Amino acid sequence: MSKAKKPAATGLADARAEHARLSAEIAGHDRAYYQEDAPVISDAAYDALKARLLALELRCPELATADSPSQLVGAAPASGFAKLRHAVPMLSLDNAFADDEVRDFEARIRKFLKLDTAESVAYVAEPKIDGLSMSLTYEHGRLVRAATRGDGSEGEDVTENLRTLKDVPVTLRKDAPDAIEVRGEVYMTKHDFLALNARQAEAGEKSFANPRNAAAGGVRQIDPNVTASRPLRFFAYAAGLMSAKLADTHWQFLERLNDWGFPTNPRATRCIGAEALLAFYARIGDLRASLDYDIDGVVYKIDRLDWQERLGFVARAPRWAIAHKFPAERATTRLNAITIQVGRTGTLTPVAELAPVNVGGVVVSRATLHNADEIARKDVRVGDTVVIQRAGDVIPQIVSVVLEKRPQDSRPYVFPGICPACGADAVREAGEVARRCVGGLICPAQAVERLKHFVARDAFDIDGLGKKHIEEFWRDKLIQAPADIFRLHARKDAIVARKGWDEISASKLLAAIEARRSIALDRFILALGIRQVGQATARLLARDYGSYASWRDAMFAAADRETGAYQRLDAIEGIGEAVADDIVAFMHDRHNRDVLAALERELTIADMAPVASTSAIAGKTIVFTGTLTGMGRSEAKARAEALGAKVASSVSKATDLVVAGPGAGSKRKAAEALGVAVIDEDEWRKLAEG
Ligand code: IVH
Repeated sequence: MSKAKKPAATGLADARAEHARLSAEIAGHDRAYYQEDAPVISDAAYDALKARLLALELRCPELATADSPSQLVGAAPASGFAKLRHAVPMLSLDNAFADDEVRDFEARIRKFLKLDTAESVAYVAEPKIDGLSMSLTYEHGRLVRAATRGDGSEGEDVTENLRTLKDVPVTLRKDAPDAIEVRGEVYMTKHDFLALNARQAEAGEKSFANPRNAAAGGVRQIDPNVTASRPLRFFAYAAGLMSAKLADTHWQFLERLNDWGFPTNPRATRCIGAEALLAFYARIGDLRASLDYDIDGVVYKIDRLDWQERLGFVARAPRWAIAHKFPAERATTRLNAITIQVGRTGTLTPVAELAPVNVGGVVVSRATLHNADEIARKDVRVGDTVVIQRAGDVIPQIVSVVLEKRPQDSRPYVFPGICPACGADAVREAGEVARRCVGGLICPAQAVERLKHFVARDAFDIDGLGKKHIEEFWRDKLIQAPADIFRLHARKDAIVARKGWDEISASKLLAAIEARRSIALDRFILALGIRQVGQATARLLARDYGSYASWRDAMFAAADRETGAYQRLDAIEGIGEAVADDIVAFMHDRHNRDVLAALERELTIADMAPVASTSAIAGKTIVFTGTLTGMGRSEAKARAEALGAKVASSVSKATDLVVAGPGAGSKRKAAEALGVAVIDEDEWRKLAEG
């Protein structure tokens, strides 16, 4: 288990040499990304380089000169705002609606941290502001960057606009550390929102649907003077990248923020235990209407920062915090019709076409009806008056029918047995709730939906190629298959000639497409639209196989279930047999193979860099077995992954290390038979520290 660690840059001369090397490398990637629109490494690999540079500059501040890549911001892209990568991703929060979900949250934390029953858990509970999240970076006490959340890894540079907010200090009071990143919410008070809308109406300008939209509009102004004229406010509530430890608890951290001049929410409260959180929730719920800003729930955060660190993150949300949302807003309206949408895998989804109605500030005219069973269960009929609800970003739903208002001649809804898009049979397979169109490749609806998925935000994310464009380009035969997108440059004249397009917009679209000719492996896998392969699974696959070629070849080989290739796929923690089978079936399909081959000719698919780590277990495959007494199984797994290791659920030749706690049985034996190293919990703890 010994892996030579890279010697740390000891003297200043070494540090300077390392700094020069990293700077040159980053500058090259910046050029590729910002000027050539053709990045050659994944975002994660870029972030790792940047993090190493920053760490070096924190150790040797004299290296942080004005021309260091750490100080530079990329050139402005066509959209008007330069893009900024977040040094630490800006994540979202998991939601809880019911009280028991909050109790479960505490139970999960206790289990993860292996807390004794006598130990209490302290939280900070805060109102959840309905605004837009913002990252503010200060260096040597001065505001140097402000970025929107964007997609979580990359936001827009709105520094000049944020400087105009009275709530955002441009320089920090007291002595702040060299580099801090403060996160929080930009919002508009209800009072200011109403006044702004009145002014807008008077001036004949558009009015805003709600304070959140008004705040977002204010931040995304090209001219900072316009932003300055909008009454925007800010509450600070979280930390991004910090050059020094600032506090032991979140509560202390909020106090420090106040000392430096940031407004924090005055209603934030320290609570012990889940029941105290629920009491806070009830209190804020009662106050909600009287608060002068919109909130959509409350947020609970573990107070101890060392616990936050141990708990870490899953996918896109921290384990140490949760949003407890207020119940959805409801309204009553008439159901005019039920239409059927066909998804990319052929699923038929019924959609309620409603008489437009305002639900909590948003006009709703459609709602999902899920599937045939759901319609039958609620006995929803065309012509009914229905109660609908909206919860946060969730698609509106039909809650119930107002039976007293049902027209006398109404008939139960009959779900179609054929696909409305292609006329093929729509069948319901055993054990499934959905009817699925069997038209496959001949079904135009499926083809279009697959293309929309391909260009979606988490997949290829092509600026200016939205769902509407895909539908139109598909109808007019400009795009029939994914690879056609990358051949559109040959059809530029046809695009320019289209209604609503001109030379400039067509060039912009083609440039955005060129920018995605090079793509990260996980995004590529996600874009393929394999059943059950969402973002988390796509990442697991990309991490595990590292390069497109090795993933593809392994998936082809895995068609035979008896092979090591299938077993390796199935052994990836988080990928079960059903998912493995869907992946293999997808890769086996002749048409899909043609799609892949065509894409290979057009694209450069970047390798997924392993997590930057100098740990001895980086790149190794680990299996945990038996009971771990010091840390829970999920913490052990999270720690191993953070150090760049892969965690598998079964032992095979590909396993590098087995961590066996008391009670380990067959896996330990398998390891011994295969000659795989086995260590105990104490040895694991030592590894996990570094
Ligand atoms: S903490 C890693 N605290 O809610 C978690 N978020 O649903 C960082 N939000 O994107 C977020 N009020 O825009 C936090 N007091 C609060 C918040 C808050 C509003 C927003 C924030 C975030 C979203 C997640």
